[in-house]
Amino acid sequence: MRDQAVQLREKMNKKQAKPAAKNTRVLAVTSGKGGVGKSNFTLNFALALIERGKSVLIIDVDLGFANIDILFGHVPRKTVANMLEEQLSVQEVIETGPLGLQLIAGGQGFSGLLELDGEKMARFMEELGSLQGLVDFVLLDTGAGLSENNMRFLLAADEVLLVTTPEPTSITDAYSVVKMMHAKDSELAIRLVVNQCTDGKEGRQAAVNFAEVAGRFLAKDIRTLGILPADPLVPQSVKKQQAFLLAYPNSLASKALRQLAGDYLEIPSPFKIGLKGFVMKLFFK
Ligand SMILES: Nc1ncnc2c1ncn2[C@@H]1O[C@H](COP(=O)(O)OP(=O)(O)OP(=O)(O)O)[C@@H](O)[C@H]1O
Ligand SMILES: [Mg+2]
Repeated sequence: MRDQAVQLREKMNKKQAKPAAKNTRVLAVTSGKGGVGKSNFTLNFALALIERGKSVLIIDVDLGFANIDILFGHVPRKTVANMLEEQLSVQEVIETGPLGLQLIAGGQGFSGLLELDGEKMARFMEELGSLQGLVDFVLLDTGAGLSENNMRFLLAADEVLLVTTPEPTSITDAYSVVKMMHAKDSELAIRLVVNQCTDGKEGRQAAVNFAEVAGRFLAKDIRTLGILPADPLVPQSVKKQQAFLLAYPNSLASKALRQLAGDYLEIPSPFKIGLKGFVMKLFFK
């Protein structure tokens, strides 16, 4: 009996010393139209997941316009460009933000991602792949629209979170993204986030219409992840260069986002083959 207890304790200690590898899930946040709130969503969604005990790394892959660091007043010391040019490891370019959020800033390094020479590409893949199992979520803040770079990121991710506002122009552009993605991979999991809604009814209506059109014309099941309100405290927090979840924790936007993150963790989510699979798909698809 005593022996068993000792063995059990030893086992537990071993487990604590070496935490189980995580199923690193890669989520790409995108939109059809620009300026709908992707970067604010990505940052605050990441923080809400962290509040719920998850570890999150954001990679800013918004080619040419990478700026998520500005949203929380952070000046990145290193970017992916440094990693490639100065032969740094990925660990050396990860910055730490509020609540222990991890970030890889885009800088100029990503602009040539798909044109990297063989050696740099291999290095980049190896470095990115080495993060497998170390964090729960990798969130990619992508640019708006359907550039070839963007498409690659979306198609390689485990799941795409598509942000739109209820405005018809934003909805139409978001639908174009779905159509294009669907033509390349009909299995791709896409979830809709309706941001900047005047009220819940407006958001829900937009989501229902969107799902109905995708179902009718593409036979594509688009679930809604959440509805977020238009909240003047969001632009206020941007001006302060702080995440709204932290600057205004009781704002409507913060409450809705916390709810959304909680819902997200409740529902089963697709997991392909994680970060290593993502890296392979990114370069070889
Ligand atoms: N829920 C919201 N309520 C009010 N304003 C919002 C909300 N979400 C975002 N905004 C505002 O919309 C603007 C664009 O936000 P953000 O930079 O996050 O969009 P984006 O989709 O990442 O843009 P881009 O396509 O340029 O990368 C910001 O000024 C932000 O304050
Ligand atoms: Mg952005």
